Amino acid sequence: MTTIHYQPIKSLVDRHQTNAFYIVDENALPESTRFPQAKSIILKNVTERNKNLDHVTRIIEQMLEMDVDRGSTLVGVGGGITTDIVGFIASIYNRGMNRLVLVPTTLLGMIDAAIGGKNGVNFNRLKNYVGTFRNPDEIYIDYTFLDSLPKKHIDNSLGEIIKYNLLGVDVPISTNPMEVVPKCVEYKQRITNSDFHDSGDRRLLNFGHTMGHAFESLSDMSSHGFFVLLGLFLELQFSKYQKKSTSEKFLNFIDRKSSEIKDLLLNVFPDEMAEIKGMKMADVCDRVILDKKRSSGLIGMPLLDIDCVVRIEEVKVVDLIHFLCVKEDPFSHLGEIPDRF
Ligand SMILES: NC(=O)c1ccc[n+]([C@@H]2O[C@H](COP(=O)([O-])OP(=O)(O)OC[C@H]3O[C@@H](n4cnc5c(N)ncnc54)[C@H](O)[C@@H]3O)[C@@H](O)[C@H]2O)c1
Repeated sequence: MTTIHYQPIKSLVDRHQTNAFYIVDENALPESTRFPQAKSIILKNVTERNKNLDHVTRIIEQMLEMDVDRGSTLVGVGGGITTDIVGFIASIYNRGMNRLVLVPTTLLGMIDAAIGGKNGVNFNRLKNYVGTFRNPDEIYIDYTFLDSLPKKHIDNSLGEIIKYNLLGVDVPISTNPMEVVPKCVEYKQRITNSDFHDSGDRRLLNFGHTMGHAFESLSDMSSHGFFVLLGLFLELQFSKYQKKSTSEKFLNFIDRKSSEIKDLLLNVFPDEMAEIKGMKMADVCDRVILDKKRSSGLIGMPLLDIDCVVRIEEVKVVDLIHFLCVKEDPFSHLGEIPDRF
């Protein structure tokens, strides 16, 4: 079980003075904080393209040089990329380090990435394809980190916030951390504790991610939140396509939520919308076929049911491909139609 502290980073440094080793994203290093230099690695150029096994190897080489042993407490300070990498290292270095502490420094990290013990890196442009499950022992949430976070990265959390909202969490569509972080953390902790290894309800958290990841893997991978938002839009349309229901409540719900998402896509992410216009749907379908949830031609993915509750359904990959490429135009409601083949 993970203990969550809503406390300033200084209390972490004071508490773990003797045996902590820090891996810190340079952009998240607040001026006022001093991590002991002899016990820190500062990561430069933290990007999705660098979130890979080569990067992990280089960090491990540095840890070896600095004589880090498995008895140390490994502390990861940064956004979702950093906490995913550090969590992975904590679970493989010396067959697993004794303690892992994460300090998310982006809004997305606070509401989602640092919680729940999924970690890992991309592999050949496939998102998070290599990784392990390892819960952090402690998480420190310090909102002052967000003061230096560029607006683009604050907005990037909107996809996951809307996802929580669609899953029934009473969270506003807002980027005010005090309004959203505690509710999202509480929900994610509850669902991941009850299904740690992702075989049951935890899979609900994948809403929007099957299609979102397929598009994201064809992009420069710098706007995860945008692709979750796009994926939610498409998977709501796909729910309608699959259910073929005439329930007014169901259809109105989809229209209302789709319209909220559409506004955000067009107004907050115009550059990303332009980028997806150039993507070939055949390439997107190739990526869907590689989805890591796929088994025997089926993907267990969340869909909106006709009572407006999201549930896991076994979907035929061929139906997804049909929806994206053949039968319907999933983008017609967005007014943005990518080139086809
Ligand atoms: N493990 C999970 O359950 C889970 C869930 C959701 C997302 N993720 C992963 O999280 C990643 C995205 O996370 P993210 O959006 O936090 O991205 P990120 O880690 O890339 O951070 C975004 C940018 O902000 C910078 N940054 C970080 N903290 C800062 C601060 N306080 N001030 C200024 N700049 C700062 C980073 O250097 C980076 O340039 C993706 O790789 C995604 O796969 C994992």
